[in-house]
Amino acid sequence: MILALNHKSHFTKEEILKYVEDYKKFDSKGHTMIVCPSSCYLPYFEDIVLGCQDVSSYPFGSYTGSISAEAMYSLGVKYSIIHHSEREKCFKESLSESKKKLEQAIKAGLIPILCVGDTKEEHDQGKTLESIKEQLSFFLEGQSYDSLLIAYEPIYAIGTGDVPENKEIEEVLSMIKEHYPYPVLYGGSVNEENVLLLKQIKGLDGFLLGGISLDLKALQTLCDRL
Ligand code: PGA
Repeated sequence: MILALNHKSHFTKEEILKYVEDYKKFDSKGHTMIVCPSSCYLPYFEDIVLGCQDVSSYPFGSYTGSISAEAMYSLGVKYSIIHHSEREKCFKESLSESKKKLEQAIKAGLIPILCVGDTKEEHDQGKTLESIKEQLSFFLEGQSYDSLLIAYEPIYAIGTGDVPENKEIEEVLSMIKEHYPYPVLYGGSVNEENVLLLKQIKGLDGFLLGGISLDLKALQTLCDRL
């Protein structure tokens, strides 16, 4: 399985250095781990597969405060999370801005981890499939990429413990796989307890992990249980 670890904006320098040390003893049990720390901490990690949490929608140039996809690639970063719902919620990032980021990532040689998700309202109105289909066609219609991961992350499930039933996730997965040839991850409140149930989802290629990725002990238990 693929396990992408999204640290979000957590950790001080001291904490991340301890994490780097502890991570050297982590047993991935053969799973593919992608660590996505805060960008400023990327150079502290060596000999592991790295992802960034965001890239600029612009290339190299005069864009104060943004980190280009080329810069990330030159640091040895392999993946980039694109269109995480927190980008939309906290930074008002639009779909077209995210699409530019997707294009920049691809152009620079990064593999996008493209996040799509439904709101609680869409879920409750039975519009999940429609919403995911729309988002994916906005990003991917007419394009064929060598490497890309899709992460299905229901917006209401992120950091809330409100995880949809396996059957619902399976429906989304099978719709995605019917239209796109890319591996699909699930993300949203995955932990070492519910992973026992979630790992039974048919067609699932891995998980995008937020909160639990900060705690290597709990993460090790999750890995051991996969
Ligand atoms: P969570 O976050 O595991 O803390 O719910 C997942 C994510 O935001 O990618």
